[in-house]
Amino acid sequence: MRLAGADFSERIVRWQRASGRHDLPWQKTRDPYRVWLSEIMLQQTQVATVMSYYELFLERFPDVHALAHAGLDDVLSMWSGLGYYSRARNLHRCAQQVVLQHRGEFPRSAQALQELPGIGRSTAAAIAAFCHGERVAILDGNVRRVLARVLGFEADLALAANERTLWEHAQELLPQTNLVECMPRYTQGLMDLGANLCSRMQPACGMCPVQELCKAHGCAEQQKYPVRTRKLKRTAQSIWLLWVHDDEGAAWLARRPERGVWASLHCLPAFDSEALLLAAMPDGHIGKGAALPVVRHVLTHKDLFLHPVRMALSKREVLAMEGSWFDAAHWPVLGLPAPIRTLLGGLT
Ligand code: ADE
Repeated sequence: MRLAGADFSERIVRWQRASGRHDLPWQKTRDPYRVWLSEIMLQQTQVATVMSYYELFLERFPDVHALAHAGLDDVLSMWSGLGYYSRARNLHRCAQQVVLQHRGEFPRSAQALQELPGIGRSTAAAIAAFCHGERVAILDGNVRRVLARVLGFEADLALAANERTLWEHAQELLPQTNLVECMPRYTQGLMDLGANLCSRMQPACGMCPVQELCKAHGCAEQQKYPVRTRKLKRTAQSIWLLWVHDDEGAAWLARRPERGVWASLHCLPAFDSEALLLAAMPDGHIGKGAALPVVRHVLTHKDLFLHPVRMALSKREVLAMEGSWFDAAHWPVLGLPAPIRTLLGGLT
């Protein structure tokens, strides 16, 4: 399992300098606020998608104070479409903690960064390595695959003890010298390698800077790594949506609970079954809703099947359920889930 750490890290750094990505907007800065924002956006979202949100978000919230003092709905509305909305709520809480507990300065060390909401071990390490050259390892999904292959790491990563061992290897492989220059390059290099060459299905080993060191390549067993017995199973969930609207298109919307699908966003009233939706319909209107075609919305680990039921009502009526009337002009500034925006008016 042992690798010559210096050889490995030097190859990654050299390759990043020559062939890695250099023009991503968050690579032009060492400002912790900007780096932190990019790392949170990139946690579950592709680079190309993040690019179209990152600059707009920064225009609206140029620093941690602006973000901390914004309303949650404002933040959710700028996040709308990126998914995983708990990230946006944590982002907001994190900015508030940085302002209140750290006088507006992000802590410098990865260990202290990890204490903040929404910042896990790998994200904390990425921020500390990019901004301050701290010698600390990242291990996101892509990097886990790269290291498991290079090391021929056969232990099952579903077990926490094995995951801990891989973290230790990741730490041992880090550059040893010239850290302020090398740590950002090395960290970005591993990310670039994982995203662009060492892909899950068809790794481009012929272009890889560590091909000669790679155990998986040596045995032509790239597909075997990383080893994980317990796979996340995809699930399906049906949601019935009551779309009550008036003549001018205003709709009754309610805020979702803080946990679960679309946490904290505004949404049409949602129910787990058709029976529950019917039971919630206003008196005298049961059976008057029109069932619209089912919409399938794919999340990472779940397929949502949305069953909208549409019904006209006067805005003078106040429904006996949580929520209130919102004019169509108001929707763009609310944080609405992307499929709901599409359903309500094709605003995406
Ligand atoms: N994924 C996570 N962090 C990243 C970064 N800084 N650049 C590109 N992809 C990433």
